[in-house]
Amino acid sequence: MDIKITLTVNGKTATVTTDPERPLLDVLREDLHLTGTKYGCGEGVCGACTVFLDGEPTLACITPAAKADKKTIATIEGLAQGDQLHPVQAAFLAEQAMQCGYCTPGMIMTTMALLKKNPKPSDDDIVQALDGHLCRCCGYPKILAAVRRAAESAKR
Ligand code: FES
Ligand code: FES
Repeated sequence: MDIKITLTVNGKTATVTTDPERPLLDVLREDLHLTGTKYGCGEGVCGACTVFLDGEPTLACITPAAKADKKTIATIEGLAQGDQLHPVQAAFLAEQAMQCGYCTPGMIMTTMALLKKNPKPSDDDIVQALDGHLCRCCGYPKILAAVRRAAESAKR
């Protein structure tokens, strides 16, 4: 039976009627039209669907919609301020750390979580933090460079 859930996404409150077991990713992409969060594997192993749920990085493909009720969600669409990219987004752009860009939103969300906890990560810290993310274009060296650059720019 469908239920009503209320969630605050990128500062805006939305109410959705949905099957409680439906993936949060489908609610975001299909009901709220926030297609920046990507569907990769659908089973929690590629990181493409990473969003923040009450501030914690969360795989939206394996999170039931009901779990997001009355919660706060941040997606890639909420990062830029108007035309001004978030510094982590700017670092990925500056390093050209994407080819198809499919993995990029998830990589950026996890990078933000990493830098919040550890503003000066070593390369090992970065690799460990992004371990659950797959880049099918194998852009890992540039992604590493982008995270280093984001950490540097946060120091300024
Ligand atoms: S789509 Fe969610 S982890 Fe791959
Ligand atoms: S840039 Fe294509 S999947 Fe990472």
